[in-house]
Amino acid sequence: MAKRIGLLYGMEREFPGALAQEINRRSKGEVVCEPLVVGALRIDRKLPYDLILDRISHEVPFYRTLLKQAADQGAHVVNNPYWFSADDKYFGTIVADQAGVAVPRTVLLPHKSHPPGTEGTSFSNLRFPLEWEEVFDYLKFPIYLKPAYGGGWKNVYRCANPDEFFHSYEQTGDLCMMAQEEIVFEEYYRCYVLGREHVHLMRYDPKAPFHERYVRNAPPIEKALKTRMDRDCRALCKALGYDFNTVELAVRDGIPYAIDFTNPCPDAASPSVGEANFQWILDKSADFLIRKVKEPRKLEMTGNWPERAP
Ligand SMILES: Nc1ncnc2c1ncn2[C@@H]1O[C@H](COP(=O)(O)OP(=O)(O)O)[C@@H](O)[C@H]1O
Ligand SMILES: [Mg+2]
Repeated sequence: MAKRIGLLYGMEREFPGALAQEINRRSKGEVVCEPLVVGALRIDRKLPYDLILDRISHEVPFYRTLLKQAADQGAHVVNNPYWFSADDKYFGTIVADQAGVAVPRTVLLPHKSHPPGTEGTSFSNLRFPLEWEEVFDYLKFPIYLKPAYGGGWKNVYRCANPDEFFHSYEQTGDLCMMAQEEIVFEEYYRCYVLGREHVHLMRYDPKAPFHERYVRNAPPIEKALKTRMDRDCRALCKALGYDFNTVELAVRDGIPYAIDFTNPCPDAASPSVGEANFQWILDKSADFLIRKVKEPRKLEMTGNWPERAP
C-alpha cells in the first residue's frame, strides 16, 4: 500500500503545493502526499499518516497535540513535536555550546512584569533587586535583548547602554527575555539544514529591507569558514534532533556564532528566499521525506543532546 504523507500548514500555499506535487511525481505512486485533514481528535483512533510535515503547530496548540498523538502512534513527524514544545532560545544556546558550536555570552532574565495570575508574592525565590552590574559586566554593551520564546524578529532590541537597556526591558512586559552580547559580524548566514545532514549556506543581510535580505550573487565563502559552518549546522541539528531547520550564524573574526537556530518551521517562500534557495529546499525536502516515510520510525524525544562534544 502507498505510504501517506500529510502536510500541516497555515497561510502558506506555494511551498506545500509544490512539495506535494514534487513528492507525488518522484515517488510514482509509492507515496501519496496531500494536505492533512482532521476534525475532532479521538484517543482511540489512529491518524492515517505515515509521516507529517509540520509547518504551523507553533501557532496552533490543537495541531501540536495532534502531532504528539501521531508520533506516539508511529508516524514520523518532522519536526519532533516533543522537542519543539520544549525548546527555547536560551536553552538552545546551552545545547549549541555543548555541541561544540560558538555562542554569544548569554543570560536569561526574570520577566519584567508579572505573568498572568501571578503577583509580587508569587516570586518567593527571586533575588531582588537583580544583580544588574554583574550581568552588564559579563555581557558588555551593546546588548541584544530578545524573547527566549520568540521568533519573527518580534521584541528584539539592541541596547547600547544601561539607559537604553532599561527602557527596552520596561517594554517587554511579561515576556521571558534573554540578553546577549552583540556579535559584531563581518558576514551573516542563514542556512537551511535538511535531515541533519544537507546544509545550504545562504548569505543573509539582516540589516537590508526584508525582500533583499537573502543576498543574491554573494561572493564565494572562504574554505575554512565554509567547512566550519557546515560542521556547526550539522552538529546543531543533530543535537536538537531537527530535520528541517534554519540556522543563523554571525561571523566575527572568522568564527561563526550561533544566533538563531531553533526554527523548525523556517521561511520557504520563493519571494523572500529567492528562486534558487526555494528550489534547493524543495528538492532536498522532497527527497528526504520520500526516504523517511519508507523507514521504520523510532520514537525520539531529542536529538543527540545531552551528549557533549569532546
Ligand atoms: N547576539 C547578537 N549579536 C548580533 N546580532 C544579533 C544578536 N542577536 C540577534 N541579533 C540580530 O537580531 C536579529 C533577530 O534576532 P534573532 O535571534 O534572529 O530572532 P528571531 O527569531 O526573532 O529572528 C538577527 O537576525 C540579528 O540580526
Ligand atoms: Mg532570526
